[in-house]
Amino acid sequence: MQSTWENLVDYDMSESGVTPLTLRELVDMGFDLDDFLDQPLGYSQSNGTIPLRERIGAIYAGSTIEAIEVTNGTSEANYLVALSLLERGDVLAMEVPNYMQMPGVARSLGATIRTFSLRHETGWEPDWDEFDRAVAPDTKILYLSNPNNPTGAVLSSEAMQRIIERCERTGTWILADEVYLGAEIDRPRTRSFWGMSDRVIVTSGLSKAFGIPGVRVGWLIGPPSLVATCWSQHDYLTIGPNKLSDRVAQTAVDARNRERCYARTRAILQHNLKIAREWLQDFGGRLTWQEPQAGAIALVKYESDVPSIQLADRVRTRQSTLIVPGVHVGLERYLRIWIGGREPFLREGLRRIGLELKGVWGLPPEGGSHERNGVASC
Ligand SMILES: Cc1ncc(COP(=O)(O)O)c(C=O)c1O
Repeated sequence: MQSTWENLVDYDMSESGVTPLTLRELVDMGFDLDDFLDQPLGYSQSNGTIPLRERIGAIYAGSTIEAIEVTNGTSEANYLVALSLLERGDVLAMEVPNYMQMPGVARSLGATIRTFSLRHETGWEPDWDEFDRAVAPDTKILYLSNPNNPTGAVLSSEAMQRIIERCERTGTWILADEVYLGAEIDRPRTRSFWGMSDRVIVTSGLSKAFGIPGVRVGWLIGPPSLVATCWSQHDYLTIGPNKLSDRVAQTAVDARNRERCYARTRAILQHNLKIAREWLQDFGGRLTWQEPQAGAIALVKYESDVPSIQLADRVRTRQSTLIVPGVHVGLERYLRIWIGGREPFLREGLRRIGLELKGVWGLPPEGGSHERNGVASC
């Protein structure tokens, strides 16, 4: 749905990162543009150049470059882990709501999906009974996104420990997608699963907390033997990452620049969160949320029986504005709305969404008298 519409609407509010950095901003961080122009456009090292892997390794205490593979985005890293581990008949467990790449990939490989819920009422804590049922001795992989897309929730240390202990008991791999680590809004840096167990594989990349999705650089880090298998799979799939992107990524992940990117992301999100908060107050309690702790997404619950797909279609066709229906991320009666854009874009996008949602409840559109009659019930 996103691929179909995101470039055709006026306001793409289905995004999930922050306003992206430009190459010029990276030049200000020390990127050598002149040297870049002289790069021979050959193949790059297929598992990522050593300088890049060394810099990524600095994020993960105790890692070695053999434990790291650079990929075309976090999504490819997730894909490679699935290709390397999953066989027909295996079980993949995952929390919902979530970023829904893994269920599709796992299913295509003949695996079965078992889900457990994150509960709105408890600040998106996992439902532990469901978790224990989903992560059983026959569960090959547990997939988590932490901080989570779309709730913006961060697991507590206790919850992480509980997850680790269960997976060690059941012999389950923990695939921790940490692409939002570093995109915390008003809280300390999220703890990584890295180092908590030999069964942990972390995936991440430049797309969210760094604000650089366009270069398509991600990585995976895990036990070297598993990483070697992923590297073989990578050869069959895309051979390796783009050489120019590897170069750009070396600047971005450099320890000092990494903190600059994270700070930029935090500043955008802190600013935008206030705007989203104000916007939500305009619906008389019919739109509610647990404020995100990290990331650029507002996951809002709406009071109505109208299916989320119908609402999203309505917003798209009448306001040329794209949002993600909750059902697409595993949770009906919710909408996933991007809050990582520039202020005028964010305000106008929210205004357009608001017009349609107010129509559902017969609320007057803000300041609009002539528009009032034009907004029919959904
Ligand atoms: C949790 C999560 N993982 C991975 C991705 C894809 O990341 P990339 O652009 O690095 O492939 C997304 C994109 O929305 C995401 O939300």
